[in-house]
Amino acid sequence: MTHATQDVFSRIERDKSRYLDELKDYLRIPSISTDPAHKGDVERCAEWLIARMGEAGLTTEKIATDGHPLVYAEWSGAGPDAPTVLFYGHYDVQPPDPLAEWRNPPFEPTLEAGPDGDWLVARGATDDKGQSYAHLKAVEAMLAERGKLPVNVKFIVEGEEESGGESIEKFVREQGPSRLACDVVVVSDTAMWERGAPAITYGLRGLAYFEIRVQGPNRDLHSGVYGGGVENPANALATIVAALRDPATGRIRIPGFYDDVRPLADWERQEFTGLGLDEREVREDLDVSTLTGEEGYTYVERTWARPTCDVNGLWSGYQGAGAKTVLPATAGCKVSFRLVADQSPARVAEQLKAFVEQVAPAGVRVEVVYLHGAEAVTVDATGPYAAAALDALEDVWGRRAVRIRTGGSIPIVGTFAAALGVPVLMLGFGLEEDRLHSPNEKFDVVNFDNGVRAIARLLDRAAQVRA
Ligand code: BES
Ligand code: ZN
Repeated sequence: MTHATQDVFSRIERDKSRYLDELKDYLRIPSISTDPAHKGDVERCAEWLIARMGEAGLTTEKIATDGHPLVYAEWSGAGPDAPTVLFYGHYDVQPPDPLAEWRNPPFEPTLEAGPDGDWLVARGATDDKGQSYAHLKAVEAMLAERGKLPVNVKFIVEGEEESGGESIEKFVREQGPSRLACDVVVVSDTAMWERGAPAITYGLRGLAYFEIRVQGPNRDLHSGVYGGGVENPANALATIVAALRDPATGRIRIPGFYDDVRPLADWERQEFTGLGLDEREVREDLDVSTLTGEEGYTYVERTWARPTCDVNGLWSGYQGAGAKTVLPATAGCKVSFRLVADQSPARVAEQLKAFVEQVAPAGVRVEVVYLHGAEAVTVDATGPYAAAALDALEDVWGRRAVRIRTGGSIPIVGTFAAALGVPVLMLGFGLEEDRLHSPNEKFDVVNFDNGVRAIARLLDRAAQVRA
């Protein structure tokens, strides 16, 4: 390679095993944002990251919030004529359960041999500690090699993405325009198209997340003495859950749910098809006999651009060994809807509450609690910074990057675009099969290393946009 970033690439090559060791330290901190028992770990994780940012040569600040702290850092030595790149990531992770399914404990990162080089296995490896740590290491390598960067940089790393992202939302709305002023936002919290094939993601689904609680009699009852004469909360919950979807068509039955759904454009359907996803590979990877979903749509359309309803957890009654003849007093579930443009989480909340009231059997009390939500978002992936990013990815992977969407959500992305008025580039270095949110989450070490290189390359290319 003869282009301008070669100096930094050489340093990255020399230092990459240290980057990996540091990432392992980062992964050892169980920063599970949704679990109050881990509040101290989340805080410690923010402090760990701030220390590494300071060592890299950035000015840092821990920003206190009503929830977990925001981590902020900047370097503005390139001067007012150079562009400013804002990096976003999250240092919190999903809960690791079910623990028994991990080959090694989730917060003891291990290297395993994969088909394409080593895998780093740990909770948060790809989502999002590994991916976003690549931002910092690229900046560090450039500063170390050259004593300066070609652009100004800011970092905002949150600790609540996996639990709804409320604090950053407030911060960006209130202080974003002044404190986070920039020319482009770079987010690495998505996936590549496939192994070896880099991509820019331009669409995310939204989310509306709920807990449904069903209360029956005032205590657990003998199911022989009372069964058949008292409404069973577990049965009632099953009735409610079953009513949500039409099993024949895969459509959601809540009245009005599809009213705001923007239909897929023909050009987009064609572009999705053109990517040539092999559905058989997905089936085989997951060991399921067939892929199912809303009738009339392909797997890619269903997962990227159509709304869904999924139960995320469900509990009631006896779970121990053997049998217990009990009529449980309570039942509950977590249920979430992935949303697409132009659905609003608040409107879905109203619709769901009305629907549950209508379908809930008599004899139980049912409560629907809204936990959090995010709107679907699409970003413009066509401007000069997107072009610079597509080129940077190609420089590193040696293959033209494609534009894709994803079914996941990153709540703050829409707010960045609206509040800062600049393009948001989602450059993902992960793979959809990285087992994010699942046991044995992993990140291919080659994608971590290439992510560091790609960000360095992007900064050199981004400097040219204004030059
Ligand atoms: N990194 C993911 C989103 C993602 C996953 C993008 C896969 C592309 C491919 C993100 O951290 C995430 O999981 N977000 C949550 C947000 C929710 C809790 C508001 C999600 O999508 O479930
Ligand atoms: Zn993430």
